[in-house]
Amino acid sequence: MTGLAEHLKTATHEAHRHAETRPLVRDLLQGHLEREAYVLLLRGLREIYAALEEGFDRAGTTSPHLTRFAAPELRRTTALESDLAFLYGPHWAEGVEVANAAAAYAMRLRHTGEADPILLVAHAYVRYLGDLSGGRAMGRQVARHYALEGPDGLRFYDFADIPDADAWKHAYRGWLDQLSTEGRDGDLVDEAREAFAWNQRLFDDVHALR
Ligand code: HEM
Repeated sequence: MTGLAEHLKTATHEAHRHAETRPLVRDLLQGHLEREAYVLLLRGLREIYAALEEGFDRAGTTSPHLTRFAAPELRRTTALESDLAFLYGPHWAEGVEVANAAAAYAMRLRHTGEADPILLVAHAYVRYLGDLSGGRAMGRQVARHYALEGPDGLRFYDFADIPDADAWKHAYRGWLDQLSTEGRDGDLVDEAREAFAWNQRLFDDVHALR
């Protein structure tokens, strides 16, 4: 029988291909994205990760088995805040606009976290496994195009407490498979497709704001 991890990967294969080729992602990888637009992307991501990670904190009080899907080693809110402070300045919170799609996605995550917290796992899967995979290639391009030597400005890509990303991804997939016992695989797969769609809206919104 196919486990949840394999199911998620297969079911979102098309969505992944689509996300990888969004104009914003393409521009970022080719070094055509202005630094201001990159800051807008980080600002939006900050709202999304903060909502996701707060949701896991709340979910952890009633469903502690869910917290490992947003383990401290994976969390990105603080890294994004640090990159924003470095790339924009200390007043990034007021000074950088939050893209509409990011605000809407953050609201959706808060609602999901309250209504059906297990579904947050689908969003964590899309973001964190993405960050541990293609995100690393993106970090190298960001360093090159914005002439960043790190660690400042590149903390989003720096999983200092995860020296072996492949081992972590393997463990994460194992946890996903264990979650199958809850009988929610279909819902989680649908939600992961939703998560890709929300990420895509963010990319397109930031691209349009430039
Ligand atoms: C810059 C463009 C991207 C590249 C080059 C890229 C590349 C990759 C690669 C090579 C893998 C396979 C890693 C492995 O099996 O160990 C992967 C996995 C993944 N990526 Fe991306 N990716 C990109 C963008 C994205 C975006 C924008 C998202 C979501 C917002 C995303 C989400 C994921 C997820 C969830 C996985 C894990 C799939 C699984 O094994 O279940 N990726 N990516």
